[in-house]
Amino acid sequence: MFVATAPANIALIKYMGKSCDRENIPTHSSLSWTLNHLTTTVQLKPKAGDEDTWSPLEKSQSSHQQLSQFGQQRFLKHLIYLKNQFQLGQAFDVQSHNNFPSESGLASSASSFAALTKAFAKALQEIKGEDLSLQQCAKLSRKGSGSSCRSFFSGCLWKPDGQLCPIDFPKDWRHVVVLVCKDKKTISSLQAHKRVLTSPLYKGRVNRAEKRLQDFMAQLKAEDWGRLHQTLKAEFWDMMGLFHTSFPSFSYLKPGSIEVLNMVDQLWADAKEGPLVTMDAGPHVHLIWRDDQMALMSKLKSLGLENFPTLSSF
Ligand code: DP6
Repeated sequence: MFVATAPANIALIKYMGKSCDRENIPTHSSLSWTLNHLTTTVQLKPKAGDEDTWSPLEKSQSSHQQLSQFGQQRFLKHLIYLKNQFQLGQAFDVQSHNNFPSESGLASSASSFAALTKAFAKALQEIKGEDLSLQQCAKLSRKGSGSSCRSFFSGCLWKPDGQLCPIDFPKDWRHVVVLVCKDKKTISSLQAHKRVLTSPLYKGRVNRAEKRLQDFMAQLKAEDWGRLHQTLKAEFWDMMGLFHTSFPSFSYLKPGSIEVLNMVDQLWADAKEGPLVTMDAGPHVHLIWRDDQMALMSKLKSLGLENFPTLSSF
């Protein structure tokens, strides 16, 4: 049995739009911070025969952690791709488990595909004696889901030429995701990548993202929290703007998302300080706090955040 766990990651500069769908080649660089408290564990159990199978989770585990039929097919397809790359004939029974809700816009494809690729690397090592480096695993994983290649590093800059550069983030950063609703998302990120190309605002997107990446790196180095906040805010609204101006347009925002975003704006306005904020292809709001901001965090709770469930790295 081959078991591996991998974390999700949150993009601070977003991967949105591809120049090649088959290879998951992004149109511009993206930058992520890895979320070690949100993980997927994949188990590959060798079995007789040629066909890989998917086993549902134990009944005791909640249904929101189950992958959809489409998700399962995509997963098994990636396993076949991996096996073909290394002429590995072994069939497997696959089980996958997230410690957070699947397909709700919490980057479960990143952690799932990274964990599957890691579990496969273990099987390859055991069965054929072949070792894969971290960079090789990340590159293979990218083929299953683009953003998963960033989950192999604690922070990662992914460039359109395929380069993956590890990035160090401050040790005192903490992540909180505010869960705004329980619904599974109706537009997958696979579809979103295609649709955004139809937005009139996509023109200029590549330059805007690359410029923001430069700004972000300089602000990170200068520890300029206020400017980091402005950059991240502009970046996720840029992505949301693409969604809202695509043909046909779509949205991940829910009333709760706006409520939480307003609370955060209120905190910044009152205290001239607050968390960094970003959103992904989902309704949830991601907050990044520094360790020394505990009092501000309590203030945000009293502004209404206490009414929402959260998942946090604290
Ligand atoms: C909005 O990696 O899910 O989360 O390569 O088609 O699997 P595929 O897309 P995916 O895209 C993630 C998009 C995003 C932003 C990001 O993580 O950079």
